[in-house]
Amino acid sequence: MEKNYKRTLVTCALPYANGPVHIGHLAGVYVPADIYVRYLRMKGEDVLYVCGSDEHGVPITIKARQQGCTPQDIVDRYHKIIKDSFSGLGINFDIYGRTSSEVHEKNSSEFFRKLYDEGKFITRESEQYYDPEAKTFLADRYIVGTCPKCGAEGAYGDQCEKCGSTLSPEELINPKSKLSGAEPVKKKTTHWYLPLNNYEGWLSDWILKGHKEWRSNVYGQCKSWIDGGLQPRAVSRDLDWGVPVPVEGAEGKVFYVWFDAPIGYISNTQELLPQSWEKWWKSEDTKLVHFIGKDNIVFHCIVFPSMLKAYGDGYILPDNVPSNEFLNLEGDKISTSRNWAVWAHEYLEQFPGKEDVLRYVLTANAPETKDNDFSWKDFQTRNNSELVAIFGNFVNRAIVLTHKYFEGKVPAAGELQDIDRAALAEIPALRASLEKTLEGYHFREALKDAMGIARVGNKYISDTEPWKVAKTDMERTATILNVCLQICADLAIVFEPFTPFAAEKLRKMLDVCLCAGVDHRKGERETVNTFKAGECAALHTVSAPAGADVAAMSASCPGAGKCVCLSWDKLGREDLIPAGHQLAAAELLFAKIEDEAIDAQLQRLATIKAEREAAAAAAAAEEAAKKIEPQKAEVTFEQFDAMDIRTATVLAAERVPKTDKLLKLSIDTGIDQRTIVSGIAEYYTPEEMVGKQICILANLAPRTIRGIESKGMILMARQGDGKMRFITPQEALVNGAQIG
Ligand code: 2FM
Ligand code: ZN
Repeated sequence: MEKNYKRTLVTCALPYANGPVHIGHLAGVYVPADIYVRYLRMKGEDVLYVCGSDEHGVPITIKARQQGCTPQDIVDRYHKIIKDSFSGLGINFDIYGRTSSEVHEKNSSEFFRKLYDEGKFITRESEQYYDPEAKTFLADRYIVGTCPKCGAEGAYGDQCEKCGSTLSPEELINPKSKLSGAEPVKKKTTHWYLPLNNYEGWLSDWILKGHKEWRSNVYGQCKSWIDGGLQPRAVSRDLDWGVPVPVEGAEGKVFYVWFDAPIGYISNTQELLPQSWEKWWKSEDTKLVHFIGKDNIVFHCIVFPSMLKAYGDGYILPDNVPSNEFLNLEGDKISTSRNWAVWAHEYLEQFPGKEDVLRYVLTANAPETKDNDFSWKDFQTRNNSELVAIFGNFVNRAIVLTHKYFEGKVPAAGELQDIDRAALAEIPALRASLEKTLEGYHFREALKDAMGIARVGNKYISDTEPWKVAKTDMERTATILNVCLQICADLAIVFEPFTPFAAEKLRKMLDVCLCAGVDHRKGERETVNTFKAGECAALHTVSAPAGADVAAMSASCPGAGKCVCLSWDKLGREDLIPAGHQLAAAELLFAKIEDEAIDAQLQRLATIKAEREAAAAAAAAEEAAKKIEPQKAEVTFEQFDAMDIRTATVLAAERVPKTDKLLKLSIDTGIDQRTIVSGIAEYYTPEEMVGKQICILANLAPRTIRGIESKGMILMARQGDGKMRFITPQEALVNGAQIG
């Protein structure tokens, strides 16, 4: 049964600060979370929106080592890039914190210490790989070797990137430390473990019986983990980057990144609201929702809840964990290491003013129930055929015609006809469907409903043709445009969660304001209710001491009586903008995206793909070159001695006409001058051969090749990849010197 909550705490997975975020992250986690938060806020609900960088873990130390800088340098750099990308896309968390913060170190240490003091951990001794030269334990990622599954070199101790197999360091052939190149040795070490097996029954009741409404991918993963039997999970690592384990005898040990990262949600809340954070984490009136990607499900549904359960003290558990599948790019898996991604910060630079287009396309194609694909052509089509041709076109026609016929003043409606009533009646139905889908975390469907309202408007104006009616009936024209402008106002409300920049631009054109809801970005100092405005922006922010009654704050707009105030609850009403209200000038809401912009992106990806394929081919050739043919059957000394092998010099060379492979060589053998036809044109040009001293088999029976008599054979060395090189004496000799 749906519980009645008083507030909602929305968290988004903390991105690792070892690289920028890409469209896969945005589609999977941040855009849907942002839509959800904006929607709840517009409805006047009290929402706290928390995220931040995940700044620990081995990949960060590896990146620092590769770039010759410190892990701190890496996280400082990417924290800023990621934070700016989010705000550039209109994703404004109440706090975007960092797990390298002091608050977090203190909070996560305290969390561990309590579990430790209460005996909630077990310790286990195990043998782990150790680098005897660098004198340090090696995380799996720091051990490389040959993949036992596919034979690729450079496979990591936890995964082979070539064949995708999950590995353990023990399985690697020829393991080497990435730090020193030394062969790692096994050494005993002790770690703390959370015995997840103790929480199995409780997890099963809570999730498998209690949360059947969770998305099937989330529920299914939880079920298979629980049914498979849970094992104790290590919460510490031997590493020098992370939060130090705060107990004696734990020198050189830090928290495993997945122990401290989810505690980061709590730490970031504490940093923002040092006095009142507990109300968000320890009250049954708070609805906690974690937005994550599918690779994070086990940590958010099994591990972190078990940590909170072990801790006790009233911590709440998530009410839902909406998790998406993965987004592909142009049919291929997004991959940071292969640079196969559209990076948020680059998109913002390359498509200024098109933040909404990306939000829109990623929502329309959100991988909610299965992996989905992003393609640049689809991006262009959705912009040009949906945002421009339907939403933008309708708004533009309505506002331009109002300026043309009524000096930009909203005309009064006369008596409504069936067609008017039918169009207006569709909107409350779409609203009801949209609210249901949004509250059920079905954002793709919700966007279809929002777009449905734009379609209603666009169809209505096309069917009623006010530009024709105006020639004969100004009263009817007024009614039609009034209806159109009411629908425009609906769009200014309903698109605020999906395309907030366009919704704001539209409100400026309509000169209306909208209660966008309260946020807590000023922390304990105050709660702010923003009324995103038209021309009357100055009127529209209300601040109140933190803890003020959010519903009361949302109820009244400071511009009330002075301007036209919209809010979510008014969506679908027929009197959103009064007659006589003056509109601002029309502007285009969306601009067409031309082929050149798309071609540039496709070209960039094609170059990356070509480079990748060339590198793969080079690597394959390198591997093939190493392939050594097995030894041939034994020969006798007499058989060998029968072969007359000599030094010789090439006097002249030319291609054999109409062949790709053959050169005709004129050779000084010391015995005579003769012709040899040789299949080396793939490897040498005639010019390269002239003057070279080579070795030949002189007494090979002559053969006629392409009508040329060839007497003898040039000795060539051939590698596994087919590459051939002639054999030359180490220093110049007379021609005709015998070899053997
Ligand atoms: O997968 C990731 O990108 C992790 N950094 C997510 C962490 S979420 C949370 F628990 F902090
Ligand atoms: Zn492999």
